[in-house]
Amino acid sequence: MSEQALPDQPFRAFRLREDGSGGEVTEIRLDDLSPGEVVIHTAYSSVNYKDALAGTGSAPIARTLPLVGGIDVAGRVVASSDPAFAAGDAVLVTGCGLSETRDGGYAEYLRASADDVIAIPSGLDPHSAMVLGTAGFTAGLALLRMEENGLTPEHGPIVVTGASGGVGSLAVDLFAGRGYEVVAVSGKSDAAAWLEELGAARVIGRDEITTKGRPLEKGVWGGAVDNVGGPVLAELLRTTVPWGSVAAIGLAGGQDVNTTVMPFIIRGVSLLGITSANCPRHYREAVWQHLATDWRPRHLDRIRAADVDLEELPDVFRRMLAGETQGRTVVRTGTDAGDA
Ligand SMILES: NC(=O)c1ccc[n+]([C@@H]2O[C@H](COP(=O)([O-])OP(=O)(O)OC[C@H]3O[C@@H](n4cnc5c(N)ncnc54)[C@H](OP(=O)(O)O)[C@@H]3O)[C@@H](O)[C@H]2O)c1
Repeated sequence: MSEQALPDQPFRAFRLREDGSGGEVTEIRLDDLSPGEVVIHTAYSSVNYKDALAGTGSAPIARTLPLVGGIDVAGRVVASSDPAFAAGDAVLVTGCGLSETRDGGYAEYLRASADDVIAIPSGLDPHSAMVLGTAGFTAGLALLRMEENGLTPEHGPIVVTGASGGVGSLAVDLFAGRGYEVVAVSGKSDAAAWLEELGAARVIGRDEITTKGRPLEKGVWGGAVDNVGGPVLAELLRTTVPWGSVAAIGLAGGQDVNTTVMPFIIRGVSLLGITSANCPRHYREAVWQHLATDWRPRHLDRIRAADVDLEELPDVFRRMLAGETQGRTVVRTGTDAGDA
């Protein structure tokens, strides 16, 4: 086993309570954590919509309780019984059951299965990796799957819904950097200038994606990155050009989609499902490699809204669920030994 000293003292964690009512900062020990071959001294985690749901007890995200919250983590390996990792390696984990079936990233230490651990590629560090986190990974996975499906900038503008959120703002930056004309849809009129700085060619209000109800409308979108779901997703399918690609990512606006088969059988529109949590390893490695190099978002500093401590999480969760947050919030969980 490659290892540094393992902690024998208690350390801080934001742990989801056994009664499903949310979480709180408490002290735990290494032996309290879910098992895994790789022990990580964490540096940062982040706040995603799913974290806000779990951390407030608003939805049953965790399937076993109590559990450390946080679906993301980045830090350095302390010890690994798997030869793929050595002490001091900078690594990250996103999804893979964190805060659902095993203890997550809101603690100073984490034990992970080696299969779930990704070496942070050159071009990123633990902090920038968590500005991206699950949100950036998800936007990157959407881009990868849409381009695998044949999407090019020549198809026409890409519409991004929920644009001021974590996935949305990173998708705006990512797709614009890749040469797409990006149209950002946001309910926050005061976010328009910021979204244009990130690369949006145009920002429109949520009410401009109106539901007309006919099976097909004039095709205007080459593709869509949809964080909202519900009637918005149905409308995007009706208004996507022939051979365009629509990525279904989120449900901030609803989970039911009422559509006909017409966009699919008349226009060859593709509806691509995006799931970050259970993503095959070859996709995870490919997306993180792109995010660190040729797809690296150009405005991570502008997208990072704040770095917060574990104690501040309940307030961030509340504001996120109320639709008041913008961009990405990074969570300080430990220290980055690489910076010491
Ligand atoms: N499939 C996956 O693997 C995956 C991964 C990550 C996230 N997600 C999902 O993707 C969505 C975004 O996640 P996130 O972490 O980026 O959350 P977030 O930062 O809270 O962003 C969500 C954004 O959606 C918009 N929105 C909120 N409520 C809405 C409503 N009722 N109707 C229309 N728009 C609304 C808001 O943007 P504006 O104010 O700008 O309109 C908000 O900023 C969530 O539904 C999340 O569960 C899925």
